[in-house]
Amino acid sequence: MPTYRIAPSILSADFARLGEEVRNVVRDGADIIHFDVMDNHYVPNLTIGPLVCEAIRPHVQVPIDVHLMVKPVDRIIPDFAKAGANIITFHPEASDHVDRSLQLIRDNGCKAGLVFNPATPLSYLDYVMDKIDIILIMSVNPGFGGQSFIPEALKKIAEARQRIDASGREIMLEVDGGIKIDNIAAAAKAGADTFVAGSAIFGKPDYKAVIDAMRTQLAST
Ligand code: DX5
Ligand code: ZN
Repeated sequence: MPTYRIAPSILSADFARLGEEVRNVVRDGADIIHFDVMDNHYVPNLTIGPLVCEAIRPHVQVPIDVHLMVKPVDRIIPDFAKAGANIITFHPEASDHVDRSLQLIRDNGCKAGLVFNPATPLSYLDYVMDKIDIILIMSVNPGFGGQSFIPEALKKIAEARQRIDASGREIMLEVDGGIKIDNIAAAAKAGADTFVAGSAIFGKPDYKAVIDAMRTQLAST
């Protein structure tokens, strides 16, 4: 069985109690904290920036996975690295120089990755696989939590898995959007190893019950 990681998205957490929320979700089994950054420009919503990343950093030891839904990308990368991010991903359409942005993330000491919207082709990976530590497949259109999983994402996860295996490199394959207990196994079977879940976890009273149920599903794949 591959190493599976559950990455709760704090987009659905109680922002008035964010430190406690991230501590609780890690206590209850989260492997990674997924941190959604929206700018009301690249996506039609506005969320949180480096100050909030810095504020939650002392509360957890697990990696903080910053998903940038912002345009432009480069200016904000060093700020997130300084704020304690471990992984930084961005949407290739939001950067004029994708190779440079990937390098910038690594130069700032973080793992780097590209995020693919439902209609964005994986061909952006063609010439940058050596600079990629993580591929994030969106299974909703970015901008909001609580949307429904788009089934076509499964085919794209499988294609991304083929590219990763062909590269011979260790690259994480993350899926984001509408992941629930009843579809996480399908995403794993398609080849994902890292699962973002916002409303499925933070929307429920018992985080441990959801994370445990997700792991049971993953164990059955
Ligand atoms: C959407 C975000 C997701 C979102 C996931 O733009 O990137 O991380 O928070 O939330 P759920 O799991 O509720 O779809
Ligand atoms: Zn996200």
